[in-house]
Amino acid sequence: MTDPSPSGPEFDPSKVTVIFVLGGPGAGKGTQCESLVNDYGFVHLSAGDLLRAEQQRKGSQYGALIADYIKEGKIVPMEVTIALLQNAMRETLNAQQGGEGGQVVAEEHRAKWSDGKGRFLIDGFPRKMDQALKFDETVCPSRFVLFLHCTEEVMLQRLLKRGETSGRTDDNVESIKKRFQTFVETSMPVVDHYRKQDRVVEVDSVASKEQVYSEIRKAVDLTFEKLGEQ
Ligand code: C5P
Ligand code: MG
Repeated sequence: MTDPSPSGPEFDPSKVTVIFVLGGPGAGKGTQCESLVNDYGFVHLSAGDLLRAEQQRKGSQYGALIADYIKEGKIVPMEVTIALLQNAMRETLNAQQGGEGGQVVAEEHRAKWSDGKGRFLIDGFPRKMDQALKFDETVCPSRFVLFLHCTEEVMLQRLLKRGETSGRTDDNVESIKKRFQTFVETSMPVVDHYRKQDRVVEVDSVASKEQVYSEIRKAVDLTFEKLGEQ
């Protein structure tokens, strides 16, 4: 007989709060996450940053594959990205109990991380439907999705500006166009999937960093109130 029982998600969603932060390339996900970390005690995990770190890690078997997918603006096979996120979450939760690796949250936010509790902003993930379903099933169901809505004109300008100093292989016009196309074709269906479940909190991110953040705070506070979090 085969074992019929699926193992279920690794992290208990009643203890671990996961918020997905989505939006096109250059919508301001990373920038806004930094502010949310300071005010709410989240730990910020950027899927793109984790992939770039893995690409550069000596001995990684995925280095060349990741480099190619990123330059072409394509979505890296989900097994790689999910494993990186899952490891980072586990390390971060262990770090609060004195474990090795992972980031320890600031003193003022420790209470939100006591007794195995934790809160993560997962930035730039899920970018494809298979990632969304697999993560919910095996890692941790998300609480809601923060979606930053921006025009391509504004995103293009931001990315070109960033490209002057970022050193990223994909902050150039050719890669950016491919990333926009992937976003529309592959990632928007994920946002629509969560919209149908009424789990998307949408904020317009064309305005300045400060204006956008003030809208995000209002939206997050309201959503936390509804969900009974603080
Ligand atoms: O979010 P960011 O712009 O840093 O992502 C850079 C690239 O990393 C994406 O264009 C894509 O190639 C890859 N990526 C991915 N899957 C994700 C997030 C990022 O393949 N969930
Ligand atoms: Mg980013």
